[in-house]
Amino acid sequence: MTIYLNGQYMPIEDAKISVLDRGFIFGDGVYEVIPVYSRRAFRLPEHLRRLQHSLDGIKLANPHGDGEWTTIVNELVARNAAQDQYLYLHITRGAAKRDHAFPNPPVTPTVFMMSSPLLTPPAELLQNGIACITAPDNRWLRCDIKSIALLPNVLLRQMAVEAGCTETILIRPESMSGDAFLTEGAASNIFVVRNGKLLAPPKDNLMLPGITYDVILEIAAANGIPHQVRKVAVSEVFAADELLLTSSTKEVLPITQLDGKPIGDGKPGAMFARLHALYQDFKRDVMRQQSPLPPGEG
Ligand code: PDD
Repeated sequence: MTIYLNGQYMPIEDAKISVLDRGFIFGDGVYEVIPVYSRRAFRLPEHLRRLQHSLDGIKLANPHGDGEWTTIVNELVARNAAQDQYLYLHITRGAAKRDHAFPNPPVTPTVFMMSSPLLTPPAELLQNGIACITAPDNRWLRCDIKSIALLPNVLLRQMAVEAGCTETILIRPESMSGDAFLTEGAASNIFVVRNGKLLAPPKDNLMLPGITYDVILEIAAANGIPHQVRKVAVSEVFAADELLLTSSTKEVLPITQLDGKPIGDGKPGAMFARLHALYQDFKRDVMRQQSPLPPGEG
């Protein structure tokens, strides 16, 4: 497997970073996960825009312009074998003497990118759906930053694994003004379907603005599927006809069990079937519109 580290491409075994890297010491960095279909990065401008938002959120200058990022992405994809890949892009504030405050003057950031084969969810999951648990969302108030400091997400996701489930759905405890409400999954966004309408929590500081989430809402709008972006109360999650999970690596999945109880009739529903089919069409159309690959690489 070939990776990119600080301007060079190399086998992953040869990649080395300093133990003083602030990513290692403080989790001081941000990341992106970008799907690649048929060797073309999917929604790259949107991923780069979110990367910029995360960098702004941690006050770290972007080490590359979009053109340079695109070159690195295309080169890394070309150097790895799989047709469908997912890229993990990671930037930290670099290596410096340990001090919580930023190094002054700034040091060179560490830029790392790797590619893994992207395996879309197996048919069994699409047919039967996945089981999830709920847990209080005990993360910080800047979940819109795609921070590499993922310990809360790691612990929350592990709760699901230990319960024999796939994902943990996060519920923010009630504020003074109302009910506890849905934010997202430990590593995914969550949609609720009630009475034929798709409900999505608003993109605010309490959730990651998912690229797949945006695609789903675009598809809903383009196909006349009733949808609404608004705060979703925990009671609505448990009373859902359907629950859907989205992410760049899982696309869209039906959640058929929550905290040990069936959602709806316990089977993937009509909204899932429709959105999953439309998502596959959307992917195909977008990839077709992108410029053709050079000869021999198609
Ligand atoms: N995670 N919310 C959280 C907390 C996430 O970590 C992710 C994705 C999402 C979905 O975002 P997108 O649709 O842009 O993938 C929402 C990635 C896949 C990961 O950490 O591996």
